[in-house]
Amino acid sequence: MFIESPRYTERFGSVRLSHVQRVIALDSGLKSELPPYGAMGVIKIEEETIKHFEDRMAVVIPVKDEKLKLFEGVVSGVPHDCLVIVISNSQRGKVDRFRMEGDALSQLCRFTIRKALIAHQKDPAIAEAAAEAGCDELLGEDGLIRDGKSEAMVVGLLMAKAAGKEYVGFVDADNYFPGAVLEYVRNYAAGFSLAQSPYSMVRILWHYKPKISGGLYFRRWGRVSETTNKYLNDLISSKTGFETEVVRTGNAGEHAMSMKLAEILPYASGYAVEPQELVSIFENFGGILPTKNLKVMEQGIDVFQIETRNPHLHEEKGEEHLSNMLLLALSTIYHSPLCGEESKQAILAELIKQEVLKEGEEPPPVRLVSPLKKVSTDKFISHIREDFDKYNVLG
Ligand code: GDP
Ligand code: CO
Repeated sequence: MFIESPRYTERFGSVRLSHVQRVIALDSGLKSELPPYGAMGVIKIEEETIKHFEDRMAVVIPVKDEKLKLFEGVVSGVPHDCLVIVISNSQRGKVDRFRMEGDALSQLCRFTIRKALIAHQKDPAIAEAAAEAGCDELLGEDGLIRDGKSEAMVVGLLMAKAAGKEYVGFVDADNYFPGAVLEYVRNYAAGFSLAQSPYSMVRILWHYKPKISGGLYFRRWGRVSETTNKYLNDLISSKTGFETEVVRTGNAGEHAMSMKLAEILPYASGYAVEPQELVSIFENFGGILPTKNLKVMEQGIDVFQIETRNPHLHEEKGEEHLSNMLLLALSTIYHSPLCGEESKQAILAELIKQEVLKEGEEPPPVRLVSPLKKVSTDKFISHIREDFDKYNVLG
């Protein structure tokens, strides 16, 4: 594929944040006489390079009661060499949606001779492994893994690690276009190929997010993302003294990390997870607060933001869901030790203006799951590995 070169990279301590890079063309051909670089400012990412990273990547799909057709479409879009890991919190019982997902997944895998793992978020064996590993923060009062997309992501991460993958990407199960899923994963690979540090992250920005209201309207920005990005940028500016607009993917559900980075980040519960990743990176490696990871500081963190060619169309879950997302996203910034009094006041005013909070209310505290390294990942893995085949759809 052809992609814009990361022309502007802003530094915040040892974090290298690249401005949005657009995908110029989805394919760059196999002909070797083409120069490795395209025109000025454009990089050619070889197909072989993309495959190299796909082979080392697990793609985690969190799913909760999505339409089966959408889920199937998403799986069909994941490049063949990636290991698909489905973490489902779908309904069981009379209408066993989890079972239906498993059947659909295993059929696809049988047809295409590929491996995939699927687990239910409420599987007691997973809760047991998490408890054994000291990962109690993931557990609810009933002793099972808590509800939530972020909790599913952490379980997916642990399974990816157990499967020996070096990269992990996330793709939502409610994407309408399998072709977009294919592009997300190729963009992850492209980003990783550009990283200088073993600690890297790739976040996806959709070119267009169509809304269906009468006709199909190709809207350039989402309102929630716009607000989240503004306050993430303010967080940086308030420390560096220079205004910036570098952050454009604060709420990117579609994103990927090197396992090395994934294991040193804490994860916020529910929908706060994506903005919290950036906030945590700024806190730990922005050079303002003391770091616990000098070695990582030395190598730096690379964050890439890639704008897709494909539009993003997913299930719309209503106005209330959006308000809740905005509240949780801004909570991560509000409660960060990096956030000064002035920024806090601005966030409160914003939430009141958008009618998410009432006068006098504060954003709820963010519930964090500690970085994976701290809890003994190895223990989780050895516990899960004992019957790893149980999760293998072809097993
Ligand atoms: P949005 O796209 O950010 O508005 O959020 P969605 O509600 O579409 O959720 C993103 C993805 O996470 C979808 O694939 C959902 O099915 C999935 N999801 C949401 N909640 C949960 C959960 O509690 N557990 C799991 N495993 N997946 C979830
Ligand atoms: Co969605």
